[in-house]
Amino acid sequence: MSDVLKRAFSPAKLGKLELRNRLIKAGTYEGKTPNGIPGQDLKNFHMAIAEGGIGMTTIGYCTTEADGRIDDQMMYLHDEIKPALLNIIGDLKATGARVSGQMTHCGYFSKNTSMQRLDRPLGPSRQFNMLGLPAGMPFTGEMTLKDIDYLVQTYHDAALYMKEVGFEALEIHFSHGYGLSQFISPKTNRRTDEYGGNTHNRMRLPVRVIEACRKAVGDDFPIIGKMGLTDGIKDGLHEDEAIEVAKYLDKAGCDALITSGGTSSFNVMKMFRGPSIHHGMIEVETNIIAKTGLKIMGPKIFKNYPYKELYFRDGCQRVRDAVDCQMIYIGGCSTMESLEQLMSDGVDFVQMARPLIADPAYANHAMAAFEAGKPYDSGCTHCNRCVALINAPGGVYCPELAEQR
Ligand SMILES: Cc1cc2nc3c(=O)[nH]c(=O)nc-3n(C[C@H](O)[C@H](O)[C@H](O)COP(=O)(O)O)c2cc1C
Ligand code: SF4
Repeated sequence: MSDVLKRAFSPAKLGKLELRNRLIKAGTYEGKTPNGIPGQDLKNFHMAIAEGGIGMTTIGYCTTEADGRIDDQMMYLHDEIKPALLNIIGDLKATGARVSGQMTHCGYFSKNTSMQRLDRPLGPSRQFNMLGLPAGMPFTGEMTLKDIDYLVQTYHDAALYMKEVGFEALEIHFSHGYGLSQFISPKTNRRTDEYGGNTHNRMRLPVRVIEACRKAVGDDFPIIGKMGLTDGIKDGLHEDEAIEVAKYLDKAGCDALITSGGTSSFNVMKMFRGPSIHHGMIEVETNIIAKTGLKIMGPKIFKNYPYKELYFRDGCQRVRDAVDCQMIYIGGCSTMESLEQLMSDGVDFVQMARPLIADPAYANHAMAAFEAGKPYDSGCTHCNRCVALINAPGGVYCPELAEQR
């Protein structure tokens, strides 16, 4: 083990916020907010990771408004849940970990039958929505300019709210086929007004969102952008354009960028790699139409990309060379060799999702192994079984390792 690796385990600043090390738990929706309420399940999940030595944990899918949820089990930021969030975040921070929140809005990609403000999900352009089909909402509408202004306001208000309940950083989701990424992608944005067409126009809404959040939280509060390197589909976002996207996000005020890829709507396995998640989804799906659809369409929709470590490394390096802000790596960093590689590449922080689902105390275990001059591995086999559990009762855990114990 080299001294380079020591960098990963040493304190570092994200913007102006000091973290005790360079490891960050990635934003993951864990299905632990039944009826949209953050409670003990969510707290326990993050507490294990915070006590396990992580520099910062990220509470995923903090939706900016009720109709930004994919389904009504997801959390949206409103007054009723403020005390619960204050309590959870306070206890997490008491461990020495920092706490970030991922701000999201699903746009048209929704199966939420309990819409509050809208009659049906809206995106940049009218869209067939396969996810909504079993719920009886196959067609989605196009946002008006008024809808766009409203959406920006929800981000502004959510950013204020998040600072108030104790989050120490914001991570704005610009990828994976959700609301803002639907505007960035030429596949889903077919508008002919100032929000569609060339890259500049498709970046107009994301830039407005960053500016609104910055106005809400002030200059010293870290804002992170999670962007896509590629949609992984024909006519979608490709890496050359993603480099331009990164420049817009950087210039608009992001303190750091995370480079992910793939979309939940069209090509989700690009994000994860490894075995397809549709087998597990069929097992847990209770809607008979969705289950049948998954059996028929699953093998076509969910492509197989063999897992390899550091599968977004090249794209991350390209973005790093194009921007001034800090870089956070994500995507298949599960061994200490990979961590060492990223440290020697000069990335500022590393986000991990599956390794921390497999071993919530990964950070402490890896640090102890480093001190002892030994290698360490979370044990995650990248089987992706946990991903299929986001809609299962009780939510996400690692069934693969639980069966071995
Ligand atoms: C169970 C699960 C849920 C996820 N939910 C989200 C999410 O809500 N938002 C997001 O940006 N990424 C989500 N992801 C993707 C991860 O943040 C990450 O980009 C991906 O798993 C690759 O990182 P890894 O190789 O460290 O797992 C999820 C991943 C998993 C395993
Ligand atoms: S189920 Fe466990 S081993 Fe499989 S990908 Fe998820 S965390 Fe890793």
